[in-house]
Amino acid sequence: MAKVKSAFFCQNCGYQTPKWLGKCPSCAEWNTFVEEIVEKNLSQLVAFSTNTGRTAKSQVLQEIQQTAQTRIVLQDKELNRVLGDGMVPGSLILFGGEPGIGKSTLLLQLAILEKNLRVLYVSGEESDQQIKMRADRIGHQNDACFILTETNLQNIFLQAEEIQPQLLVIDSIQTLHSNQIESSPGSISQVRECTSQLLRYAKLSDVPVFLIGHITKEGALAGPKVLEHMVDVVLQFEGDRNHFYRLLRTIKNRFGSTNELGIYEMQGSGLRQVENPSEILITNTDSDLSGIAIASTLEGARPLLIEVQALVSSAAYGTPQRSSTGFDAKRLNMLLAVLEKRCGFKLGAKDVFLNIAGGIKVDDPAIDLAVVASIMSSNADLPIHAKTAFAAEVGLSGEIRPVNRIEQRISEAEKLGFDSIIISKYNKGVSQKNYAIKIIPCGIVTEVIKALFA
Ligand code: TYD
Ligand code: MG
Repeated sequence: MAKVKSAFFCQNCGYQTPKWLGKCPSCAEWNTFVEEIVEKNLSQLVAFSTNTGRTAKSQVLQEIQQTAQTRIVLQDKELNRVLGDGMVPGSLILFGGEPGIGKSTLLLQLAILEKNLRVLYVSGEESDQQIKMRADRIGHQNDACFILTETNLQNIFLQAEEIQPQLLVIDSIQTLHSNQIESSPGSISQVRECTSQLLRYAKLSDVPVFLIGHITKEGALAGPKVLEHMVDVVLQFEGDRNHFYRLLRTIKNRFGSTNELGIYEMQGSGLRQVENPSEILITNTDSDLSGIAIASTLEGARPLLIEVQALVSSAAYGTPQRSSTGFDAKRLNMLLAVLEKRCGFKLGAKDVFLNIAGGIKVDDPAIDLAVVASIMSSNADLPIHAKTAFAAEVGLSGEIRPVNRIEQRISEAEKLGFDSIIISKYNKGVSQKNYAIKIIPCGIVTEVIKALFA
C-alpha cells in the first residue's frame, strides 16, 4: 500500500515543510503549522521532468503579436470601473470581504443582471432555496443563470463542461475541495490546489472566474497570501455592516489601475450603484451646526466629499475619553496634541468624539484639516459655514501642509455647490482665476481659526 503523504503548512502564509515547526521561517508567525495530507499527482510530476509534448519557444518581444483584448463590459458600472473598464476573458478574480458584507449578494446580482451572459453560479455555502430567495429580493431575471450547489471541484468542472458558461462564480473558495488532495476544505493545500485548477480552467476556456474569499479578523484574505499571487485581480468589499454604504476596492489588478473605487448602497432589494457619492455622504441640514466640517478627499482616483463630525465636552470623569470612528485614533490624538501645544486649546480635560459620516474609513491625509476644524468648532460651539470645504494635511507644528491632486479636490467641491475651500498655501500652481469657488490658502492652524470664526 502506498504511504499516505503529508506535510505541514503554515496557515498564515502557506509555507510548506516536511516537519512540524513552532515558528514559520517565512512569515515569522508562531504556532501556525497544521499537518495536511497531500496526494501528489504522480503523472504531473513526471510530466514536469520529462518531455511534456509541447515545446514552448522563446520569442523576440517585438515580434509578439498583440491580439486585441476584448473586454466584457458589464451592466454594473461600479464593477466595470474597479476592473478597469470591463472584465478580461479568462481572468481569475478574487473577491474578498468580511462575512455579511454582501459578497454573495453582489455576485448573484451580477449573475442575474448580465442578461446576455450564460452564468454558472456555484455555491458551497447556501442551498438552492436560499439563493432563490435572495434572487427574488433582487428582482430581475436572467434565463441563462444556472445555480449549482456543490463543493466538489471535479463535479463543478463536469457541470461547467455541460453548461459552457461565459462567466463562473464560486461562492466561496474556502468551501471547495478537490479529489486530488485529501485534506479538508478550507485548509491551505486545498485552497491552493482548487485555485490553481480554477486558474487553469479560466486560462484554457477564456471564461472569467470570480472567487469569493473570506476575510480573517485581522482583515487579511483568509488563509493564504499565496492566493493573491495566483489570481489576476483582487477586489475587496468593505464597509460598516451597520451602515448602508459599501466600498469596492482593487487591491491588485493585472489589467488596470488599482486606484479605482466602486461605491454601493445596500438596500432591501440588493446593492444599488452609487454614482455620485459625495452628495449622499453629506447631511443637508438647514441650520448650521457646530462640530461639522466637510473634507474634500480622494479615495483612489475618486473624489469624495466627506462629513466629519466632532463632539468636544468637559470630561465627566478623571481621564478624558477619545474615541473615533472611521479615522485613525492615533492620528486624532496627534492632532489634539497639536491643537493643545501650538494653538493653546485646553483640550486636555475634554472628551473628544469623532465620527466620519456614512460609516466609511478614510486614510487620506487631506482630511486632517476638516478634523481639526470640526473639533475647534465643537469646542467653541461655533458652527462652520456649511458651504466651506477643507483639503489639507496638518503637520506636527500646526503647519497646513499641501496634499496631492488639489485641483481635483477643489473642482469637486465647486461642482457640489461649495462656495469656499481652505487649502494649504504651499500647494503650488493653484490659481483662483480658474475657479468660481473661493480658495482660502492658509499656512498655519491659527490662520484657519481666524478665517473661520473671526
Ligand atoms: P451576503 O451577500 O449574504 O453577505 P456575504 O456573502 O458577504 O457574507 O449579505 C448579507 C446581508 O445583506 C444580510 O445581512 C442581508 C443584507 N441584504 C440586504 O440588505 N438586502 C438584500 O437585498 C439582500 C439580498 C441582502
Ligand atoms: Mg455569502
